[in-house]
Amino acid sequence: MQNTEQFAQTIAQSLLGAEADCPARPLIAMRGIRKSYYIGQPNELEILHGIDLTVYPGEFVAIVGESGSGKSTLMNIIGVLDKPTAGEYVLDGVNIHEADDNDLAAIRNRKIGFVFQTYNLIGRQSALKNVELPMLYAGVPGGERTRRAKEWL
Ligand SMILES: Nc1ncnc2c1ncn2[C@@H]1O[C@H](COP(=O)(O)OP(=O)(O)OP(=O)(O)O)[C@@H](O)[C@H]1O
Ligand SMILES: [Mg+2]
Repeated sequence: MQNTEQFAQTIAQSLLGAEADCPARPLIAMRGIRKSYYIGQPNELEILHGIDLTVYPGEFVAIVGESGSGKSTLMNIIGVLDKPTAGEYVLDGVNIHEADDNDLAAIRNRKIGFVFQTYNLIGRQSALKNVELPMLYAGVPGGERTRRAKEWL
């Protein structure tokens, strides 16, 4: 059984070729990612059919495809908002299948930045409070949260 670090390197090697020089650890290492809905029912629907993806720090990647092809489904898995039905995913050295809910919440808070198609803002809160909220979960003190949020807005 490989450890997580070896697994990420092995994926990178297999995708880039054995001779590839991979000094950096992949930020995103996915292999055989599948996602199905209505699992086990006669109308089970497989959206992702086995995605292999390796992304290194500093890389700029675009996922393109026609409407309904599964881009958001994949992005939700990359951003650990959703789990795959099958496959392996190591995010910045963390095997997400071994992470509990608290680990995943910390990963989402500190490692993932999402701009949602539908914004997902909290309507009853001000823009300032919406910007402050993730910093509250990250443990940033109140005054500092407000100062940063005002600067960013
Ligand atoms: N929760 C769900 N239950 C059942 N089917 C779903 C669910 N979420 C998405 N789908 C289906 O999965 C397919 C892929 O949807 P997805 O939203 O990932 O596509 P997309 O590539 O992001 O499309 P768009 O370009 O329109 O944003 C679609 O056929 C969609 O209807
Ligand atoms: Mg989409």
